[in-house]
Amino acid sequence: MCGIVGYVGQELCAPILVDGLRRLEYRGYDSAGLAVHSSGKIEVRRAVGKLRNLEKALDERPLPGNVGIGHTRWATHGRPSETNAHPHVAGPIAVVHNGIIENHLELRRRLKEAGCTIVSDTDTELVAHLVHAEVERGKDLESAVRAALRELEGAYAIAVLSSKEPDRIVIAKQSSPLVIGLGEDATHCASDIPALLPYTRSMLFLEDGEMAVIEQGGAVVTTLDGKAVEREPRHIDWSPVMAEKAGYKHFMLKEIFEQPRAIEDTLRGRLDRANADIHGHEVGLSEEDAKGIERVLLLACGTSHHAALAGRYYLEALAKVPTSVEIASEFRGRDAVVRPGDLVVAVSQSGETLDTLVAAKEAKAKGAKVLSIVNVIDSAIPRMSDATFYTHAGPEIGVASTKCFSTQLANLLMLAIWLGRRRGTLDAARAGELVEGLAHLPHQMKDVLSGTRQLVANLARRYVEARDVLFLGRGLSFPIALEGALKLKEISYVHAEGYAAGEMKHGPIALIDNKVPVIVLLPKDSHHERSLSNLQEAKAREAIVIGIATEGDEAAREVSDDLVEIPAVAEELAPFLTVLPLQLYSYYVADFKGTDVDQPRNLAKTVTVE
Ligand code: M6R
Repeated sequence: MCGIVGYVGQELCAPILVDGLRRLEYRGYDSAGLAVHSSGKIEVRRAVGKLRNLEKALDERPLPGNVGIGHTRWATHGRPSETNAHPHVAGPIAVVHNGIIENHLELRRRLKEAGCTIVSDTDTELVAHLVHAEVERGKDLESAVRAALRELEGAYAIAVLSSKEPDRIVIAKQSSPLVIGLGEDATHCASDIPALLPYTRSMLFLEDGEMAVIEQGGAVVTTLDGKAVEREPRHIDWSPVMAEKAGYKHFMLKEIFEQPRAIEDTLRGRLDRANADIHGHEVGLSEEDAKGIERVLLLACGTSHHAALAGRYYLEALAKVPTSVEIASEFRGRDAVVRPGDLVVAVSQSGETLDTLVAAKEAKAKGAKVLSIVNVIDSAIPRMSDATFYTHAGPEIGVASTKCFSTQLANLLMLAIWLGRRRGTLDAARAGELVEGLAHLPHQMKDVLSGTRQLVANLARRYVEARDVLFLGRGLSFPIALEGALKLKEISYVHAEGYAAGEMKHGPIALIDNKVPVIVLLPKDSHHERSLSNLQEAKAREAIVIGIATEGDEAAREVSDDLVEIPAVAEELAPFLTVLPLQLYSYYVADFKGTDVDQPRNLAKTVTVE
């Protein structure tokens, strides 16, 4: 999982490529590199670690030229090192690649037997040698890439330069994302939209099995078999500012505060307030389909999996449809039972998470209909789905997912309401309450964010040294507890566990002492009394108890050491509010610890490996 960029135009390309890579650094930051056509040859600069190291290398040895490619790496084959950094070069050829070549061992063996000197441990260098071999046989760059791709099994988005054809880049895609940006006097390519936004809004999305030759005047897209592809560019209305920090210290903080806007955008045009219903045409199901669904199977990873766990509550309570939730990587290859009457819902921010993609494909192959809930348009999961109910959170750059989580909750709740209305399990009065409740959420979220920010920052400061933190919740608050713990772990490296509050007495209670903050989610809902008892159990073991409770909950105030209040809302809507202080808590703990909040160690935003 890496980021690639390319530029063909009249400007000096190195600063443009570096700028694109900076916007893609969330995809990996083990090393970075550029290859640029310069005075009749290709020149390469590479550096281990973050982009600033590459910038330093470029300051010392600038790269003049108007055509080039770049890469930011998340290591898969071979440790992070300058030798393993992209671009990889073979003869006149330079290649950057995002993905994994599955038959790399076989290719390496064959290339070595043919006398190739392979210097890196990467699968990408093999691609450079394969293209080089075809060029040696007399092919032009496009034909050479086309021929080399026939040898590859696995996932790739590649961009290739040849010193013999200095006016073009050849790109190709299979399973990894690749977008072409059509500018006025330049053509760009990149793994993701934010890298292109400062230069153009006119974008062409390559499909799997397609390649393109990009030149200053535009791009010619063909299939790998050489058939012409006619596709209209799409206008992307994300502004570049939306993809930048907008004055916040970190993308994560900005994205936490963007949630009211993200929810508003996600609800826009979908709430049918007049009829206490949801406009559900995007879910791609007929009224008959909705009635006939026998089971919903939710597939997801990480934070999206936590949203899916909340989705199960919604679907069972409102649409009365049996629902199971699977961690996508555990579903894959298990030969799980999937029937044609099942609706599979794949939930993913990126739409590129390999485990979720493959799990959804497996379910589809067994006859299930696949609906996806995804944030990134035209990404891999929507492309294989029967329908996609997009979240409209905008680009999420922080590795820790925040605004995409709440927009996923919104779509799952809307799906449950829509199904419930069609299946006759949700009456208009209750649906109306939920639809109105959703409509009011953005301003309530805004109030909770501004009203709790300082208090939560103070708590984070007070407990920043805690080595373990527990998060407890029941019902819909259980997935929120899991999410609170995941956020804290991934950005602050503090050990945290999320538990179903009722499960604590079956083991985890042994962890509790007077050094362990226990964050208990206890909004006024059908589980409130029992959650309060669990809070008291923790308190009796001398835990430091932080309650997240509904305004005016005196019982919660009495037993909590610290209390964070949210407004009273319907049970189904409480997760949208209770998750906010948890996101802020993890953010401030990480910030006080001085960790790399937006790019925590060992992680990457989009996980396109198994
Ligand atoms: O793009 P996806 O939603 O499919 O990604 C799934 C997980 O990789 C992702 O949620 C991950 O757990 C985040 N780092 C959580 O903040």
